[in-house]
Amino acid sequence: MAKTIKKIGILTGGGDCPGLNAVIRAAVKSAILQHNWEVMGIEDGFEGLLMQGKVRPLLYDMVKDILDRGGTMLGSSNRANPFAYKFKIDGRIITEDRSAQLLENLNNYAIDALIIIGGDGTLSIAEKLHRMGIPVVGVPKTIDNDLAATDVTFGFDTAVNTATQAIDKIRTTGESHHRVMVVEVMGRYAGWIALQSGIASGADLILIPEIPFKLDTVYQVIRERASHGRRHSIIVVSEGAKPEGGEMVIKKIVEESHDAIRLGGIGKMLADKISDELGIESRETVLGHIQRGGSPSAFDRILSTRMGAGAVRVLAEGKFGSMVCLKTPTIASVPLEDAITHLKLVTPDLDSVRAAREIGVSFGD
Ligand code: F6P
Repeated sequence: MAKTIKKIGILTGGGDCPGLNAVIRAAVKSAILQHNWEVMGIEDGFEGLLMQGKVRPLLYDMVKDILDRGGTMLGSSNRANPFAYKFKIDGRIITEDRSAQLLENLNNYAIDALIIIGGDGTLSIAEKLHRMGIPVVGVPKTIDNDLAATDVTFGFDTAVNTATQAIDKIRTTGESHHRVMVVEVMGRYAGWIALQSGIASGADLILIPEIPFKLDTVYQVIRERASHGRRHSIIVVSEGAKPEGGEMVIKKIVEESHDAIRLGGIGKMLADKISDELGIESRETVLGHIQRGGSPSAFDRILSTRMGAGAVRVLAEGKFGSMVCLKTPTIASVPLEDAITHLKLVTPDLDSVRAAREIGVSFGD
């Protein structure tokens, strides 16, 4: 029989994204209105369950006015993995399993179940907590849209809109100066943001991790455009894109993080090579964290609201160890382990890739 729930905890882990507050708001309202549950807000991801003084009641009135706010009112962290907690002593990184401490703290707070909002790293931890017997439900978030088992993650639509608006602006200055403008977008190992914002902004080349590019093809596309009098070009490149036979460009290693690799730098590499090879002025713009900030789009506000309410529904039904997901047109749930076993990547035969190719967009292959 499912455990009777009286008090739940909510946390947001990993990189933030627009819509987190909207999920928190929906979960708090639904938990209180539908079940009269007490809700505790856990600060800074799993860090909040390992440190003192980071868990506080989330009352109904506390979540008003946050639907349209970016970020997360609870704070987030991608460094506090309770199963492999990393910290520095005398410059050395020590790793400890602190899951027993987390369990003890949960009992001390009398929290019966957790809603864990996060990407693949955070949800992998959620799955391990479930296997330890803690009732959890996951909510998939990430601007990267790379989580399997959901049609889309919230935050992605806003990131694509932000990137599209930025590329529109970059286009006009590129046109004025007859330059090749290279715009590097986020997405880690998945090309979703580059693909969608590239199509939406009318890019000439879209370079994504799933389709390795050839530099010669990139040069050829720009040359051909120039030969037709098109003196500027727009290249949207995903931070994880790589040349055929080459590697992704790593910006830095964050040792304390669940996923230590931070990508970045491919935009500059491309812009420099294009200038050198073609003698055409080229500039790179790295959109960076602007893609993670700002007010969520209407689509993301609605999806977040549906997922927050859905998470409470799934907890109430006793379907612990699952993740809510969008199976259009419904919010459903899947076992967490199905959601974390592989990333959802762009497939070269995807309809939008096909349509882009059909209208002359090059993927550099
Ligand atoms: O996963 C979301 C994301 O924004 C990726 O697109 C990006 O590679 C990474 O996080 C950046 O992480 P950080 O905020 O730690 O630099």
